[in-house]
Amino acid sequence: MKKVTVGMIGTGFAAALHAEAYQKVYGIEVCVKAAASLAPDAEAFARRYGIGQVYPDYRRLLEDLEIEVIDIISPPYLHREMIEEALKSGKHVICEKPLTGFFCRPGEEYADGCPRKDMYEAVCGETRQLRQAIRQSGRLFMYAENYIYTPALQKSLEFIRAQKSRILFLRAEESHKGSHAMHAARWKYNGGGSLIRQGCHPLSAVLYIKDQESRMRGEDIRVTSVMAEVARTGAGLSPEEHAYIDSHAVDVEDLANVIVTFSDQTQAVVMAGDMVVGGVRNLVEIYTNESVYHCNMAATDGLRAYHEREKGIEDFYITEKLGCRTGWQNIYLEEELMRGYSGEIQEFMECVAFGGTPQSDFELAARTIELTYAAYQSAQEGRRIALNL
Ligand SMILES: NC(=O)c1ccc[n+]([C@@H]2O[C@H](COP(=O)([O-])OP(=O)(O)OC[C@H]3O[C@@H](n4cnc5c(N)ncnc54)[C@H](O)[C@@H]3O)[C@@H](O)[C@H]2O)c1
Repeated sequence: MKKVTVGMIGTGFAAALHAEAYQKVYGIEVCVKAAASLAPDAEAFARRYGIGQVYPDYRRLLEDLEIEVIDIISPPYLHREMIEEALKSGKHVICEKPLTGFFCRPGEEYADGCPRKDMYEAVCGETRQLRQAIRQSGRLFMYAENYIYTPALQKSLEFIRAQKSRILFLRAEESHKGSHAMHAARWKYNGGGSLIRQGCHPLSAVLYIKDQESRMRGEDIRVTSVMAEVARTGAGLSPEEHAYIDSHAVDVEDLANVIVTFSDQTQAVVMAGDMVVGGVRNLVEIYTNESVYHCNMAATDGLRAYHEREKGIEDFYITEKLGCRTGWQNIYLEEELMRGYSGEIQEFMECVAFGGTPQSDFELAARTIELTYAAYQSAQEGRRIALNL
């Protein structure tokens, strides 16, 4: 059996999703040999997933000749440097979303004074440099966008390909009640708010779906413009009114609405919110000339359960971002599979072991981040931004 040896950078929330998925890979022996992390509980994480070593400095992973793949699951402001260093050391790269971003100008703490146009241009410059670095390295770049690998989206595309349907409109969303992590509240660490943190998932999904249609039809369908509005809706809430919302946006938005127009005159509407209570709302709706697909990317209706009391099940996972465990609830089953993490890691390992390119590749990552910042520019300037993306 082919063997692939991986080093992970990060042992936080998303790293656990990857670590679970590595354990489920079939047909290939996957060894997560070491992890790099600054977290105090990194050793416990490593023990839980049978990872041999933990280093504070990620460069120790790059020096290890046995490690073929570096899986970057660190905060976004570190992605670019880590990608470049990993490629230089001859490793294949997996990188979590977003690919990169603009994290305030040097010496500035807040983003409010920085024109989004400058941010957009800086990000486009970075994607060009990264593209070149990947080409020169001859290594694989795999973008960990789990939406692409959800059974719901893949099955919808099977139907669309079989009937050669024309996709006229897409509506997609990722929203929840926000993250209590301080870094989520600051542009300096995230490169934006709900749009870049959550919106990058549905944006990638709509780009991928239209790209699949392009391939199916043999046409070059491109993004020709974007219009967006962003808001800080929670800013006016009193502490009591804010009690059930986790986000405390400082210089970032907690709501974004984006309209993407494609060269075939079709459109996508994408929403990303940090102010939606009731669990995560992750969906992609596809409207064709003859069919409709409602993909629930966080489908929790496999098990409905009722509990009078929380005692004894305090640690049970119901679904992401849900505040309580009592009353009637939908329990998320097979989350890694249904949210695409298992399919994503399986395909990435197959690409490394046997060759091939992933469906979620560098171009998808680059187009998503460029579109995100063009949307920020549109929101700031109050106008449609023309693109050829
Ligand atoms: N695909 C998804 O569904 C999904 C969900 C959540 C987060 N993410 C993405 O995953 C990435 C990580 O997010 P998270 O929520 O896991 O964050 P987190 O804060 O839970 O974990 C970040 C990890 O990075 C490590 N780290 C930070 N700086 C480091 C450094 N210099 N060297 C080595 N390790 C370092 C920390 O020790 C920590 O283990 C982000 O890019 C985020 O956008 C993806």
